[in-house]
Amino acid sequence: MKPRPFSLERFFDRYEFSTRYLLCSSDAETMSLRELLALEPGADATLGDLALGYTPSRGGVDLRRAIAALYEGIDADDILVHAGAEEPIFNFMNVALQAGDHVICQFPAYQSHYSVAEALGAEVSRWVADLDGDGAPDPDDLARIIRPSTRAIVITTPNNPTGYVFDRPRLDAIVELAQKHGLWLFSDEAYRGSERDPADRHPSVCELYERGVSLGTTSKAYGLAGLRIGWIATRDRSLYEGMAAFKDYVTICNSGPSEFLATLALRHGETLLTRIRDLTTRNLALLDEFFARRSSLFDWRRPRAGTTAFPRYLGGSAERFCDDLVRRAGVLLLPSTAFDAGDDRVRVGYGRANLPEALNALDDAISS
Ligand SMILES: Cc1ncc(COP(=O)(O)O)c(C=O)c1O
Repeated sequence: MKPRPFSLERFFDRYEFSTRYLLCSSDAETMSLRELLALEPGADATLGDLALGYTPSRGGVDLRRAIAALYEGIDADDILVHAGAEEPIFNFMNVALQAGDHVICQFPAYQSHYSVAEALGAEVSRWVADLDGDGAPDPDDLARIIRPSTRAIVITTPNNPTGYVFDRPRLDAIVELAQKHGLWLFSDEAYRGSERDPADRHPSVCELYERGVSLGTTSKAYGLAGLRIGWIATRDRSLYEGMAAFKDYVTICNSGPSEFLATLALRHGETLLTRIRDLTTRNLALLDEFFARRSSLFDWRRPRAGTTAFPRYLGGSAERFCDDLVRRAGVLLLPSTAFDAGDDRVRVGYGRANLPEALNALDDAISS
């Protein structure tokens, strides 16, 4: 199988480590190794003594226990640790699908949700969000696009790029449909924990449905993308065993130091999540003010959760605007073309500490 190039990742490959202001990143502000180790007395000495051999392919038991504690009714044996959230998307699609199968994917979405399925010969229907409203896809559409060959529904909540979160009644309705048709419900919950309003925190699909697969990662809401630790949580034993066996052909097992650090991080998960939620709350207030002043150029939709927003650009081609902006001002915004979502929106990331400076640079570039 040969998936087509991943537009967003190719875009970041060009700019991520050479651009002054990244104003479209989805990973929140990170921390140093020293800061992370300081969360627990003695952690630096334990890390220093760590043996650098292979680790258990499913993930070490301490880490799997720390992850399982994030869910109700899930235990360590239901957790399969992977390299970031990207690897389990690839592995799930490979294990769950065959050529000719049909998959429904909430859209816009992280491209691997649909490109890996397409490369496997599956047909993908897009369950499209109302980007001019609150970012919700129409619940009635979902029932309409299910076919006899449908195998899985793929959702992202909180959503990248819109920040939309399914409310509980809508989440329950999706679970009910999946259950009625015997489908897997793969829920990308990479931004779980970023919800600023407690009313937006709902159960994970692995808690609600026996064929629910919840995807998690330390990359986004915890600010630890460089650990490359992600996981799935599911009570579907057969899928779990299939994915564990498939992993033997991909990463085999994870990095020992990363597993140690992720376990430490999750033991202090609330501290890390609060740090990022405080930062995104402060940054969102600045974005509200900026977009109110620049309303002739952007149509702002305040995101409910996550670290990204997806306002409409009213000045023509978003791709041309982003190209010009990065060249002239060293400010990176992501055009909606990287999401296969037209050419009239930009993704803004608001989880980084230097957002005030980046926003000033954007403001100056627009003024000039
Ligand atoms: C919705 C979503 N899923 C998965 C990923 C991949 O995350 P990771 O860096 O943990 O592999 C991303 C990264 O941007 C994402 O936005």
